[in-house]
Amino acid sequence: MTEISRRISRQVGVLLERGGTVRNVVVGDASRLDLPDVGRLRGGVGKFRGLRLVHTHLRGEPLSADDLNDLALLRLDLVAMVEVLADGLPGRMELAHLAPTVEEEAPASKDPFRRIEAPDVHRLDFDFRATMEALEDEMRRLTRVSSRTGQERALVIGVTQDEEHFQETLELVRAADVAIAGTARQKRSKIHPRTVVGRGKLQELVLESMRQGAEVAIFDIDLKPAQARAFEDATGLKAIDRTQLILDVFAQRARSRDGKLQVELAQLKYSLPRLTRKDAGLSRLAGGIGGRGPGETVLEIGRRRIRDRIRALEKQIERLSRERDVRRRRRRQERIPVLSIIGYTNAGKSTLLNAMTKSRVEAADRLFMTLDPTSRRLRFPREGEVVLTDTVGFISDLPKDLVTAFRATLEELAEGDLLLHVVDASDPRLEDKIKAVEKILEDLDLLGMERLIVLNKSDLVEDDRSAELVRHYRGVAVSALKRQGLRQLITTCEERLRPDRPMMPEWDRWASGSEVRESSDDSRAPRTLS
Ligand code: GTP
Repeated sequence: MTEISRRISRQVGVLLERGGTVRNVVVGDASRLDLPDVGRLRGGVGKFRGLRLVHTHLRGEPLSADDLNDLALLRLDLVAMVEVLADGLPGRMELAHLAPTVEEEAPASKDPFRRIEAPDVHRLDFDFRATMEALEDEMRRLTRVSSRTGQERALVIGVTQDEEHFQETLELVRAADVAIAGTARQKRSKIHPRTVVGRGKLQELVLESMRQGAEVAIFDIDLKPAQARAFEDATGLKAIDRTQLILDVFAQRARSRDGKLQVELAQLKYSLPRLTRKDAGLSRLAGGIGGRGPGETVLEIGRRRIRDRIRALEKQIERLSRERDVRRRRRRQERIPVLSIIGYTNAGKSTLLNAMTKSRVEAADRLFMTLDPTSRRLRFPREGEVVLTDTVGFISDLPKDLVTAFRATLEELAEGDLLLHVVDASDPRLEDKIKAVEKILEDLDLLGMERLIVLNKSDLVEDDRSAELVRHYRGVAVSALKRQGLRQLITTCEERLRPDRPMMPEWDRWASGSEVRESSDDSRAPRTLS
């Protein structure tokens, strides 16, 4: 190779398979080589391609940034260069491969590559087979861990400069039950028009994904379909954007028929422009994050059938919404007031609904546990029966598509008599979150409704602070968890609902404990109205 290289004054290289067979011979110019298309590594994420590049450098210059980029993006086993001496004989050698993740590696050496040099090919001390085995063992160990927990492993990529936005994205990833294998932040605020992140970052991400056994890249922004595709082509990682992430969480949380249909519809609509001809079978989307459907999973079908399914879903949703109308009208005729619990995700809405009705709507320290409005009846001192409904957790800049998708569910709020806006009083971002919720209310044209701020989790804040918040927001402090302040809350609700009504007699008995009971006709089991 070095002889030929000298004669033609061009770089010459070979791509070798593991066993040593030459797969390609490549001829470049004096300073660089362009590798042939070795095909996308599909489904082989976290693995090496089993190909190594050995090529000549006419002036013995060290491995270039391009060489290392090929090593990373093509997932080559290694890249080696051989110096071409004036007489055409081989001179100095340098090779690089992915550095193992093992701890003993000096933490100061951030270099993702391990480089080995030799004054000539005969003095190269490197055991190729043993090195590859060790690296692959390590990857297998990582994937074994994730296959045991059944979790996908993802790199989470912060493109915006907003730290809180990024933290929220991490919360969402956890809520989606995906393991965070690593995080990366984009330093410049500019988004690369084609691949979202620039070339250097792409390389870094591929290396990191290989070292951490990650198969998915999750972005904290929404991607254009072409961007997602370009990123996937360049890295072999599955790209998931913010809307897909939120939809995935929704898909796992939806309980009611209506909720499931709405999530599925939103998922299909979002994925339609993102399908390529290559994905005819949609295998890329089937399964895993971004491909989990809430109900009957229909992601393994073609485009035309997706359109059919979308139409069918729209019809079903329409029908369900008519049924909901009927129920709503009936409630209105019976003059049962409706209180809707709204609030930022994780504020404690479900816990409050539970505490007030003693029912057990799933409450967990995860974002978005509640997806469907869950309604319960309970008896109030003046009003008698009221209906309490718990809604989907709000979140800052909920993607527009999703607001539309859940409009139907949220529109029910407009029919309510009082919005209980639950906030986590111990949250340092309380004010921002209140604003985020009000922004959504504004989008839904609901700002004119009667609202009451419920300062929940008051057990976690000092009394002074709690009193200050109560004054400032003209709210009520409660602890849903410790069941404190509920009486005060109910009294205040009553005053807001209809201040002039007398108390119902049996209330005196109930009000003497902090406990709130379900109405008597619901005593055996909480009745779900929606
Ligand atoms: P989404 O369904 O995600 O919108 O959440 P949510 O607002 O319904 O919150 P949820 O009731 O699931 O509660 C979230 C977490 O906060 C749970 O871990 C609760 O135990 C906790 N929590 C709720 N109320 C209180 C409270 O008064 N005090 C304390 N310390 N923790 C609470």
